Amino acid sequence: MPFSQLRELLLPTFRQHRLRLAAGFAALILVDLLQLTIPRFIKHGVDGLTAMTITPVGLLHLAGLILLFAGMVVVLRFAWRYLIIGFSRLLERTIRNRIFAHIVKMDAPFFEKYTTGDLMAHSSNDLGAVQMACGMGMVAAVDALVMSLAAIGFMIAIHPMLTLLALLPMPILAVTTRILSGKLHKRFATVQEQFSSMTEFSRSTLISIGLIKAYTMEDFQTDRFGKLGRKYVRSNLRVAAIQGLISPLATLIGSLGLLMVLYFGGRLVINNTITLGDFVAFITYLYMLIWPMMAIGWVANLVQRGLTSLGRIHDLVTSRTTLPDPVLPVPPAMLKHPGYELKNMSFRYSSSTAPAVDNLTLSFGPGIHGVTGRTGSGKSTLCKILARLYPVADGQLFFGGTDVNQLPLQFIRAHIGYVGQEPVLFSDTIAANIALGRADASREEVIQAAVNAAIHEDIVGLKDGYDTMTGERGVKLSGGQRQRLALARALLCDRPVLIIDDGLSAVDVATEHEVFAGLKRHFAGKTVLIVSNRIKLLSMTDRIIILADGAVQSEGSHEQLLQENSLYQSMYAKQMTQDALKEPESP
Ligand SMILES: Nc1ncnc2c1ncn2[C@@H]1O[C@H](COP(=O)(O)OP(=O)(O)OP(=O)(O)O)[C@@H](O)[C@H]1O
Ligand SMILES: [Mg+2]
Repeated sequence: MPFSQLRELLLPTFRQHRLRLAAGFAALILVDLLQLTIPRFIKHGVDGLTAMTITPVGLLHLAGLILLFAGMVVVLRFAWRYLIIGFSRLLERTIRNRIFAHIVKMDAPFFEKYTTGDLMAHSSNDLGAVQMACGMGMVAAVDALVMSLAAIGFMIAIHPMLTLLALLPMPILAVTTRILSGKLHKRFATVQEQFSSMTEFSRSTLISIGLIKAYTMEDFQTDRFGKLGRKYVRSNLRVAAIQGLISPLATLIGSLGLLMVLYFGGRLVINNTITLGDFVAFITYLYMLIWPMMAIGWVANLVQRGLTSLGRIHDLVTSRTTLPDPVLPVPPAMLKHPGYELKNMSFRYSSSTAPAVDNLTLSFGPGIHGVTGRTGSGKSTLCKILARLYPVADGQLFFGGTDVNQLPLQFIRAHIGYVGQEPVLFSDTIAANIALGRADASREEVIQAAVNAAIHEDIVGLKDGYDTMTGERGVKLSGGQRQRLALARALLCDRPVLIIDDGLSAVDVATEHEVFAGLKRHFAGKTVLIVSNRIKLLSMTDRIIILADGAVQSEGSHEQLLQENSLYQSMYAKQMTQDALKEPESP
């Protein structure tokens, strides 16, 4: 409901800045009143001249007054702009912060629904529309109202019937502006869309420039970019066409009113019903009405767009996460037995029909658990559910003996170290990347974690060691180095549960052994889950789970599975041959 949206998103900021707004609008109205008195001075001058009653000093006096008023208008205009438009920027900032704070709290399913591009575009365009409606929109509405009421009032004071005749064409102006500014907005939206596709195109080309070159696509991409550029220019011209039309059309329609005044008003002057000064002032007031009449149509569009955008923003900031914190969380006791218990747990992605994790009944207690299975068998999905990135849709999941739905998310996450399948590095130093979850860690602790993750040697080999910047997306590190860095990050947090999703896949066999030996020392008594398809690594775990189509196909020790499970046997046979081929120097 729009009213509740207005109240929730806008009202607090309006309240907070009410003095600023009051001062701003007072300045705005004062400007209007000053401008409205100027034609009165002109009338005095003209009437005085006609009757020959005014002296040159009197004329100078009038001119001085006009100059003084114009000066005051300058100061007050500056004041209202600063106060009111400034307010709309403050309002924009408040809403923007609210959107940001909300977005970063959302869960994985939310980010599948809204892409990054959507979120950026929506929030900037929608925010812009709200800011416009609450800034220039409000100004134009108040200004138009004051100006038109006063101008019409003064005109009526001069001659009511003439006012009616002069105003006849004005509604046409309001309607025309309304239609044209609606069209203008649509065309402008197209321009913005094309601008963002152009930006997106150059962005995606630049980040995959290596690929483009490898496939000799340079000219092809340049052609496509050129086409986008041509489209962009064409739609800009379509905007310019309307922009060029609005003002001349307004003057034309305004001139219809002037026609009435010249004909009928002129006769009134001839009949001596009104003075020549009245006549001149009347025409000045009529010209003053052109802008308010245009403003009515324009403001109507601004408000309409602002409300639509406000609705979208409201939807965004009131969207619920599928991982809500429990209303009455069970007071989390100290975790005595870090570990999970799954009872008939299933999960399906909203975009697919088959469950990715199907009716799992398992437990993970202290020890090292290997999880394996073909690609797409649900290993990563399982890890993400355990890390509380996705909700438990069906069945139950217990953490440390309590149903996860009754535990605060922060509590669960504070006990888990999670290394995703594709580790993400921030543009920062290596040390800062390792200390991500623990900004207070000392350099010694960072180094210790790096040693345990077998990445220390690689880091000291870099020019700036731990202070080396890892650039955008960590391009300066290899895949295996990145994985071990992410592992060091998790080790530094030193939490009772560690989930490593295929985090050692790009690590060579010798290093894998080294990392694993480090882990074994580090994780005595903790619960560790390692997803891997490497038999060597799996054989070093305490227990192995084989997933197939989201369900447990087999479970047991390395030796048991070698005897019982055909998938495991074939993985073993294949990797033994590969390893033998990789080591030609061994006998
Ligand atoms: N975000 C998602 N939205 C929709 N479906 C998904 C999503 N992520 C994974 N899936 C699907 O869920 C199933 C399980 O995927 P998952 O990533 O858990 O497999 P995996 O065992 O980790 O595979 P891999 O060994 O290749 O990493 C697959 O069929 C996959 O296509
Ligand atoms: Mg995976």
